[in-house]
This record gives sequence, structure tokens and C-alpha cells, in this order.
Amino acid sequence: MQIITEPRQMQAIAEKLRLNRQLIGVVMTMGALHEGHLSLVKLAQETAGIVILTIFVNPRQFGVNEDLHRYPKPFEKDLSLAKAAGVDYLFAPEAGSIYPENYQTTIECGALAERFEGALRPGHFSGVVTVVTKLFNITKPNIAIFGEKDAQQLAIIRQLVDDLNMDIKIIGAPIVRDETGLAVSSRNSYLSSQERNAATILYQGICHAARRVADQERDLRAIACEIEQMIRSTEGCRPDYVSFVDEKTFNPVEIAEAGKEYRLLLAAWSGTVRLIDNAKILG
Ligand code: PAJ
Repeated sequence: MQIITEPRQMQAIAEKLRLNRQLIGVVMTMGALHEGHLSLVKLAQETAGIVILTIFVNPRQFGVNEDLHRYPKPFEKDLSLAKAAGVDYLFAPEAGSIYPENYQTTIECGALAERFEGALRPGHFSGVVTVVTKLFNITKPNIAIFGEKDAQQLAIIRQLVDDLNMDIKIIGAPIVRDETGLAVSSRNSYLSSQERNAATILYQGICHAARRVADQERDLRAIACEIEQMIRSTEGCRPDYVSFVDEKTFNPVEIAEAGKEYRLLLAAWSGTVRLIDNAKILG
């Protein structure tokens, strides 16, 4: 595995790979690699000849009161995980080479970024699509894999690629969960064992929703309220939002139509740790 830190060098390598007709797959992460990230690498290996993994904790997607400064950076461990996973190139730039002193440009998102994470984390998605665009330009991929764990981010990136005519195939990867159902996340390392137990309420909420809909409950708003109540009754937990949305538009849906697919979005706090989760629910 080759480790690259300079954008220019990564671009030169990517250009050469393309000239040699290699199919490049990219997996972008903020590091603190876990099973979820590694499942993306595996998918990239199945669909592309060369896999580039990027690790960059992007300051522009963190709000002022967020966890940028405590975001885990176990770089040596990440290196060995990436190597063991068979990554071909690891691109891990310094913040200064991605955002040099005179950096000015940001990409603005549209309606998809207005609700949910976008409403609660102003500027977050603009920071995400800006860095994703830069990393696309640096790694020149044919294919890029993003996780459904961040369903709204995935939808916004699909929109970005369509809107800006980027010739990149976006593949969504299923959510990897631990044995308790908790979606694996770099931020899970912040959880105490009590908070971690409590955090499984998100997955219990998803299972509750699937059962209620399977039992012919059509009132999605009512089911979302039940899940919010389940979260509130769990010690140390409080919901930010629970909502069923249309898969494409992310507009909230109140009544389920039989046979239609919806996405249930959840965001909640367990202690001081904010977690998000989601699931596809068949109406
Ligand atoms: P990060 O949170 O490190 O996630 C990197 C990628 O891994 C994202 O596509 C995310 O959806 C996916 N992922 C995270 N947890 C997962 C899980 N449990 N199962 C499946 N996939 C999972 O998302 C970001 O970084 C950043 O916003 C980034 C796109 C890198 C831009 O900075």
C-alpha cells in the first residue's frame, strides 16, 4: 500500500492509472476505521481494479460546538487496517494542503440538505460536498462508495454528481451493525458502556417501526412519535428527530402507501454523544 499526502502526487498517480485503463474506486473516510469503512473497501474491490482510501478529518463539515478537536485519530491503527484490507493507495493529506491559506471556494447544496442533519448542523453538507468534490478531483475515481449509514449525505452526493455532471458511479453500501444492532461508527468510541447499551434504542426503534408497518399500521407520523417516546424513556437518551421520508426527496411522509419504500431517519443523543441511524421500511 502506498501512502500519499500531497494532492498533486495523488493526482499524478490517478492520472497514470486512468491512462493505463485501470478502474479506480474510491472510499472516503475521516479515519478511525471500523467494520463499516472496511465493508466499503470490500465493495470497492469487487467493483474496481484499484482502490484508493482517503482519510481526512474535514474541518469544514464540523460546527463550532462539534467534536472536531476530539475526533479520534488512531493513524497507525488505521494504516494497518487499510493495509490488511488490501487498499492500494491511502491518501491522507494535512488540512493545510486541502485548504491552503488563500482557499475561497465552497459548494452550496439545495433542498435535500435543508432538513434533518442539514437543519441541525448548518453548513455541514456544504462542507461535505466541497471536500468530496475536491477528493474526487484529486483521486479521479470511476466509482465511489458511500455508506447508507449517512443516508442524507449519500442522497446529497448523488445529487451533486448529477447536478455537476461528474462522470462517477456512486454506489451505496448497506449499514454495518454490531451484535446489539448499534450501527458501527467512529463516534461510538465516545460512548461509556452504559451509554452504549442505551444507544441500542435506535435499532430497537427501527425494529419497532418494521413490525408496526408489517402489522398494517399506515400512520407513519404516529409510529415516529412512538419511537421518540421509546428514546425519551431510555435513560440518558433524547431524540433530535425521528421521521419517515420519501427515499428520493427526503420529504417527510405521514401515511404509508402499500408496497412503497420509505426511509426512517433517526438522530438521538445518548449522554453527550449524538448518533444517527436509518432504515428502509416497506409500506
Ligand atoms: P465517515 O463518517 O468516516 O464515513 C466514511 C464512509 O463510511 C461514509 O460513506 C459513511 O456512510 C460510511 N460508514 C460509516 N459507518 C458505516 C456503517 N456502520 N456501515 C456502512 N457504512 C458506514 O462520512 C464521512 O466520513 C465524511 O462525511 C466524508 C464523506 C468522508 C467527507 O468528509
